[in-house]
Amino acid sequence: MKKFFPVYVRVPLLFAIFFFAIEWIVRGDSDKPAFIEHPVVLILLGLFLFALIAVEMVASATSKIMDRLMTPEERAQKEKEASLPFAETPWVKRLMQKLTSTKTIAQEGDIMMDHDYDGIKELDNELPPWWVGLFYVTVIFAVIYLLRFHVFDGDSQVAEFEKEMIAAKEQVEEYKKTAPDMLTADQAVFSDDPAVLSAGKALFDTNCAVCHKPDGGGAIGPNLTDDHWILGGGMKNVFNTISEGGRPGKGMVPWKTNFKPSEIEKIASYVISLNGTVPAEAKAAEGDIIWSKSELSADKATEETPATEEAPATTDAEVAPEAAN
Ligand code: HEC
Repeated sequence: MKKFFPVYVRVPLLFAIFFFAIEWIVRGDSDKPAFIEHPVVLILLGLFLFALIAVEMVASATSKIMDRLMTPEERAQKEKEASLPFAETPWVKRLMQKLTSTKTIAQEGDIMMDHDYDGIKELDNELPPWWVGLFYVTVIFAVIYLLRFHVFDGDSQVAEFEKEMIAAKEQVEEYKKTAPDMLTADQAVFSDDPAVLSAGKALFDTNCAVCHKPDGGGAIGPNLTDDHWILGGGMKNVFNTISEGGRPGKGMVPWKTNFKPSEIEKIASYVISLNGTVPAEAKAAEGDIIWSKSELSADKATEETPATEEAPATTDAEVAPEAAN
């Protein structure tokens, strides 16, 4: 052993193992190393190093004394062992013998069986203990497995999968809460929640009222309260107009660089809430697209009906080729 781990490898290695073990146990979630956070650890490390060196010194002194007490034959034997290659050192050999319990050729007579097939004989070797040990381990594993999953109702793979999916979905929801800005025009929904509308109004008053008037009656920009829309009414279109801007050169710029999508959604809700109100000096209606707030609920209805109508259509389409076959 000593030959393969000389003292200048052994001491640093043991110290490193101890150091990382302590770090692992003591540190926890802190981002500072444990020996800085807790000075006690530093003392402990110092003591360990001291003990390590002390043990090494005692060991080397003992082995020197032992050397002196040896007879010349014993010394010769020791030197011979020290020069052996790794696989032939006595402790490796003993270990291999323990693991395999092989018999030497000289001992084969003891385990010879009386089977004799045209001069071919059979030995009754013991099963190698490493293999037998492994076999026992699998037996114990099987018992634990059986009890856990077939007697005590452990989760099956399907249940595990479903649990993980639920956990992942929760994480996604959690993520979306703090990052609502993956929102697109298609997902934007109108909200008449006063908190949403007042947030939308605040943004509208500071950014949009210059051109659309605070009451939406229209100035440079068109009247936002009537049912006529140049670029289209409804949540999706209004969201799009605010985000992408109007027709080039008209003055309505894309606002997506100024606002997060979640903010645009609020402004759009506010704009839609203005529909049907009567502003003081309303600009004449512009645009050929007719849309009013009352269509909001109708929107939802039309969203739902095609889904139910499409369902049988697709199954027909799927069945048809099969019928042809
Ligand atoms: C510089 C003046 C100006 C500002 C500021 C402005 N708009 Fe406009 N807006 C316009 C003009 C001009 C149009 C017409 C665009 C066109 O004809 O394509 C318009 C069109 C619109 C439309 C489409 C109306 C329709 O009939 O389809 C909406 C909705 C709208 N603006 C909302 C907003 C919102 C919300 C803001 C604030 C974030 C804003 N605007 C800021 C000038 C402005």
